[in-house]
Amino acid sequence: MSMQQDTFGSKLGAIAAIAGSAVGLGNIWKFPYVCAENGGAAFLIIYILLTMTISIPVLLAELSLGRMGQQDVYHSILRLAPNKRWIILAISSLMAAYLILSFYCVISGWTMEYLWQALSGQFQGVTEQYMTERFVSFVNSGHRPIFWTLIFLALNSIILGFGVSKGIERCNKLLIPLLFIMLILLAISATRQAGWREGVEFLLRPDWSKVTGRTILAALGQSFFSLSIGAGAMLTYGSYVDKKENLMSIAIIVSISSIVIALLAGLVIFPTVFTYDVALSSGPSLVFITLPPLFGMMNGGLVVGTLFFALLFLAAITSSTSMLESLVSFVIHTHHITRARAILILYSAVGVLGSILALSQMDSSCLILLGKNLFDWADTVASNHLMPLAGLATAVLAGHYIEKNKVIDALSSKERYPGVDVIYLLLRWVCPPAIAAMYLTAFIH
Ligand code: TRP
Repeated sequence: MSMQQDTFGSKLGAIAAIAGSAVGLGNIWKFPYVCAENGGAAFLIIYILLTMTISIPVLLAELSLGRMGQQDVYHSILRLAPNKRWIILAISSLMAAYLILSFYCVISGWTMEYLWQALSGQFQGVTEQYMTERFVSFVNSGHRPIFWTLIFLALNSIILGFGVSKGIERCNKLLIPLLFIMLILLAISATRQAGWREGVEFLLRPDWSKVTGRTILAALGQSFFSLSIGAGAMLTYGSYVDKKENLMSIAIIVSISSIVIALLAGLVIFPTVFTYDVALSSGPSLVFITLPPLFGMMNGGLVVGTLFFALLFLAAITSSTSMLESLVSFVIHTHHITRARAILILYSAVGVLGSILALSQMDSSCLILLGKNLFDWADTVASNHLMPLAGLATAVLAGHYIEKNKVIDALSSKERYPGVDVIYLLLRWVCPPAIAAMYLTAFIH
């Protein structure tokens, strides 16, 4: 069978797809809270510095490994570094993609349930107490989260079924601008709320006293997750970018968009919370329990609530397709089967794990290990261990193992960009020790 790669048709398409992978639930619901909790603008400054010095070089390394390898994460690495040790990097990336995708589909399923509730006016007149009970009974029903998980995964599969340019690229070119417009509309409507100033202050007030070693770790973890580093997704997308395009400019545009969108999301969420003077919550509660009653109270809340959950859903699906594609591409190249068949296999594999993780969240569940349910374990293992280690290995592979000229050529296009040497130096000397040090610190704590 011919293994001719389908690729992105244009630079704009490549940017949309890579930005689509980056901008996800991590930006819209996790970043605002992590930022506010860790010192606001102080966190933001650290976040931007770490993104520039560590995450962008590693992101570029991942994209360029894909460009040099021209296949999925496993086969690209096999081709570039025949030494068996590097296969561990490929396997841990694939494991991370499988684990993250499985729990990501569960949460994305929740956003679909809540999009449905918002659309059908079910937030009208509800209280926080009522939403808490409704959320608990939803998660505990078992079958409803599983139903939405499988629907969400099916939508992913359909998009990927159309292929790289007609499926992934076309979908992102449509959805990413739409997402941006919706977010801008929400942010504008938030400026008219009474709690706008307070919300902005809460998000951005620099509080250096909150900055500790943990803040720096949180910033790096968030930045890696947000740029989809360490799961082979960016590597796979990198293999689809035309070789004449400059990866550096793509990576920089995507990183800036990701930060801007995360900040805009904060400017939507916090003014709303402060306008109604309710207690702030974090994690899933913020989005699924605190916000819905507020949408139910505000003028035009039906539209705002629907837009908000539609936004979460769009952000989620453009990210999850990149993780699924990382796995699909691997299965196609390993078993020499058609795309459709590979998608079917992965639909089953992710569907089963996703369902198990959804069940592990029920109060009556016995899927608990050392006091933590399997859902939380999947997140911990992938986000705190596999992803940083894969990021570290990617930096060492591109910065030390593969020939310098090859990497530099892959990083830019024909004409060399002046910043290329700086990126290479960062990749070689700064990223590995910095990531290793931060990983070890997190491990000790
Ligand atoms: N970047 C996405 C977010 O912020 C999550 C994500 C998508 C991801 N693809 C990934 C994370 C690959 C790690 C690896 O929500």
